[in-house]
Amino acid sequence: MPIRKLPDSLVNKIAAGEVVERPASAVKELVENALDAGAKTIAVDLRDGGAALLRVIDDGHGMTAEELPLALERHATSKLARDEDLAAIATLGFRGEALPAICGVSRFSITRRTRGTAEGLRLSGAGGVIAQRLGLPAEPGTTVEVQDLFFNTPARLKFLKSPAAETAATLRALTALAAAQPAVQLRVTHNGRAAITAPRAADQRARMGALWGWEAAERLLAVDRVERGVAVRGLVAPPDLTRGNRDDLLVVVNGRPVRDPALAQALLEAYRPLLPRDRYPLAVLRLAVDPADVDVNVHPTKATVRFRHARLVHEMIVAAVREAFARRDVVPSLHRGPAAATVSPAGAEPQPGETSGAVEQGALFTEAPAPYGVAFFGRVLGQVQDTFIVAASDREVFFLDQHVAHERVLFERVQGQIRAGAMASQHLLFAEPLEISPAARALLGRWRGPLEQLGFAFVESEDRVALVAVPTLLEDQDPARLIEAAVDDLGSPRAGAPAVDRALAFVACRAAVKADTPLGREEMERIVADLAITATPYFCPHGRPIVSRVSLADIRKELRRTW
Ligand SMILES: Nc1ncnc2c1ncn2[C@@H]1O[C@H](COP(=O)(O)OP(=O)(O)OP(=O)(O)O)[C@@H](O)[C@H]1O
Ligand SMILES: [Mg+2]
Repeated sequence: MPIRKLPDSLVNKIAAGEVVERPASAVKELVENALDAGAKTIAVDLRDGGAALLRVIDDGHGMTAEELPLALERHATSKLARDEDLAAIATLGFRGEALPAICGVSRFSITRRTRGTAEGLRLSGAGGVIAQRLGLPAEPGTTVEVQDLFFNTPARLKFLKSPAAETAATLRALTALAAAQPAVQLRVTHNGRAAITAPRAADQRARMGALWGWEAAERLLAVDRVERGVAVRGLVAPPDLTRGNRDDLLVVVNGRPVRDPALAQALLEAYRPLLPRDRYPLAVLRLAVDPADVDVNVHPTKATVRFRHARLVHEMIVAAVREAFARRDVVPSLHRGPAAATVSPAGAEPQPGETSGAVEQGALFTEAPAPYGVAFFGRVLGQVQDTFIVAASDREVFFLDQHVAHERVLFERVQGQIRAGAMASQHLLFAEPLEISPAARALLGRWRGPLEQLGFAFVESEDRVALVAVPTLLEDQDPARLIEAAVDDLGSPRAGAPAVDRALAFVACRAAVKADTPLGREEMERIVADLAITATPYFCPHGRPIVSRVSLADIRKELRRTW
């Protein structure tokens, strides 16, 4: 076949293949266009996940009658003027490809009316060819309606997943956009039913309340760190609020939701080892970096980005999220009623993700967070049920779970010893032969490295294995029972790939004081003082909360009200 230039219709179909993989990508492009047009209100109507119909109505600045046909041409955009603009992109779109790609593989109509003009104009057609031009009354803004996506590309149509899967993907994309733009009202219907209702929100938390429900949104911890030109802000779940998949792990870079495994990985690293295996936190992280330091032109769908200083961004995410875990305001308060909601720190600037919207809905915390890493639990009063240490400051009463508190203390202490290469190990007087099943032995084999780093030592001979040393912390424990417990713990589904932190959490848990154990005042004071100086004083190594608190201000209020 001789070389020839492809006709536009075919070029568009090929390009569409890259930009529009499925209804979710089409709806993402259309909503991004609406956002770029400065829309404050966006309505999306879907049928069959967007495959049969997707309609996006916005109140943005619209297009002029002359611009409208141009918008359907490839490489036509109002967002880039000069070559240099590509180096620092400030809009969500810039390739001038999305509309022609979508219209090239669907039956479409675009209706526009610019503000200040009376008449609207509608272009409609199919397969990228405009068949009709119609003057009509219209609302200011733009409406794009796309029907029968991929009707002329049967191969692509065949690759669509089940309607339920496509619907889920579409709603996920819309949720990410809604999370990225709290100030824009987004209403989505699917097959005539409301699917997402996100009114204009005062802040990130209020927006997440509309998307994830208030119960979850209330528990999210505020992240806010700006350093070396990278701002990391947003909300992350405490380690005990997780999901079985990564769907609710949202990362937004300069206002653009991205699906970037490396960024998600950084977030997960910050949680390690607080998360059980196969559990993922809810999180919305907003990164702000100099647009010149991010390349968004990596892929036609613009869903991944490349950073000039990727390592720095990674470190900033980890640091910002860890910092959030160490803040005082992560401690659940027993009083969450409106009584606790109205007080805000005098003269304090509203914290991002922590402002009025949340307060109205029954806010969480009555005080400004203390500086990081300084937990203050006041004076130890005593113990209840041989399980909780009770301490009080001038403002609050704390209940500390003695086991998990001690576990956290030991975890960080041993971590320090390992880092310093000074892990204390105790040789057993007699090697302890281990009577364990072949499966348990295989498991022990997998975990041997991390266990040995912690001070365990084994000798293997033929088909037998014996324990010859244990961490000093565990020297008074029965060695056989210890290994039995290790095999149980490390083999449980919550444990991930062999890692020192996992094994360490096991050792800390074994060595920590148990519940139902009476403690002397000195022991309690020791635990509380040691806990206060840990890096993560509020969660045990497995992610369980350690402390609960009651505000004395709340108690005062409550008692006065009752009397
Ligand atoms: N909802 C809208 N409101 C106002 N103008 C719009 C809207 N949708 C599209 N346009 C105009 O049409 C042009 C083409 O849109 P299209 O989505 O194809 O390209 P783009 O947004 O510039 O880049 P990209 O292909 O990266 O999305 C835009 O540059 C914009 O000027
Ligand atoms: Mg666009």
